[in-house]
Amino acid sequence: MNCAYASGRSWLAACSERCSVHPRLTPLTRWSLWLVAAGASALGAAVAAGACTPAPDTLDLGTGGSGGSSAGTGGTGGAAPNHGKELFAALEPDFYTACGSCHDAGGIADTPFLAGPDVYATISSWPGIVVKDAKESKLLTYPVAGPQHTYKKLDSAQYKDTLYAAIQAWLTEEAKSIVTTTVLDAGKSIEPFAPIIGFNAVYFTALGDEYTGMALTFNAVQLDDHVLELDDLEVHPTAALGVHLVHPLFSVFPVGKESDPDPVDSLSNVDQEFDSGQAGALGPGTLILTNWQKGAKLTVGFQKIEPFTTMMDGGTDGGTTTGGCKDVQSFTDNAAGLLKSNCVMCHGGGNAQAKGAVDMSQLATDAAAACSQIKNRVSPANADQSQLFITTDPGGNAAHPYKFGGDSGKFGAFKQSVSQWISAEK
Ligand code: HEC
Ligand code: HEC
Repeated sequence: MNCAYASGRSWLAACSERCSVHPRLTPLTRWSLWLVAAGASALGAAVAAGACTPAPDTLDLGTGGSGGSSAGTGGTGGAAPNHGKELFAALEPDFYTACGSCHDAGGIADTPFLAGPDVYATISSWPGIVVKDAKESKLLTYPVAGPQHTYKKLDSAQYKDTLYAAIQAWLTEEAKSIVTTTVLDAGKSIEPFAPIIGFNAVYFTALGDEYTGMALTFNAVQLDDHVLELDDLEVHPTAALGVHLVHPLFSVFPVGKESDPDPVDSLSNVDQEFDSGQAGALGPGTLILTNWQKGAKLTVGFQKIEPFTTMMDGGTDGGTTTGGCKDVQSFTDNAAGLLKSNCVMCHGGGNAQAKGAVDMSQLATDAAAACSQIKNRVSPANADQSQLFITTDPGGNAAHPYKFGGDSGKFGAFKQSVSQWISAEK
């Protein structure tokens, strides 16, 4: 357990509690402490905790703009009941009637935020829907008046006073329980997100523009109510920029409570460089969080995260040459055409986030370079589990904006053909 990680009061509480339970665990002391919102009294408490005093070298109490609110939310420790789930249950039938035909799994929208069996879990983990500032939710900013989303408008006369009002009330209630007083250092942590049980791609966007398209991917498996396992943890830099990561720490944000860092600090030894265009496993590639709670959010903070590049092999074109494909011919024959017709409209550059994530811009000009980028998203030993398929499967719950327009036949043909190349990479 490293007590010098999370910030604010919950850290202090968690820290002193854990240090007294495990007195032999001494916290790291060499870091500057990211006490974003700690008040002076909290600092006093930390000092009083003795064994757990992190001896920070730069303890910046001056930036505690949100410190007042931290002190003021004293209720967060107690169980402020969240009625979000109940409010959602009440509006779910109407919501589904209005929007489910396109937004269930296999629907033509390719954004199945209403997929079952647990629609509440799905919609709560859909990126951009349940957010800290309810007004900014995709549901309130997108399917409304304007040229976009011509299918249905929530603020039309039909829904304005019924479904729209109910969704607003629900999102407002949810927002109340998103506690941000403990958000880790802004430049070094990912915004809290609700993990999808299944495949997740968590983007580093909040860390700065240069990280657009860079992500951490993993499969989340809930082992029991309090244990969440993250498998196949991978870091995906972009084709243009690599990343250097030191000591990632996952923290759990239970509903309405402050953050609770990974009790065993599993990745404390991680200090890894991922060159541009080179994805790889993060640490041992697996993480088990024993402090998981149902409905919680997760965040990941880094002791250090910085852009990284090597110009070692003269790779002026963004390091696409190393770790290339074994069978570029098979890629050209079985994959390139289908990627061009289905994916390049976004991944060729039309969408910066998409291109950053998986760069397909060289499909037409340099098959080997394109192949080595796309290879980062496949699993030769188990083609079925390739990210290329998991994210685009119309029947799946991944939050990816394209799933063959809900056409499972088209997806099947894509998978069948592209798998031939993937197997050739074994
Ligand atoms: C006739 C089909 C259809 C219906 C009905 C429909 N939508 Fe959509 N919706 C789409 C399509 C297609 C997209 C993706 C393309 C786009 O953004 O226009 C989309 C996108 C969205 C998005 C953006 C999702 C994201 O993650 O980017 C939201 C939010 C949304 N719809 C909300 C709603 C709501 C709320 C309703 C019900 C009031 C609704 N939609 C009804 C077809 C539909
Ligand atoms: C409508 C635009 C669009 C299309 C078409 C599209 N993608 Fe994506 N894709 C994105 C975006 C945007 C991201 C970045 C993810 C995000 O922001 O959620 C992404 C990310 C990905 C990822 C990284 C994992 C993830 O889920 O974030 C994979 C793999 C991927 N796409 C595969 C494909 C494949 C294969 C195709 C074609 C069959 C395709 N995409 C078509 C927009 C698109």
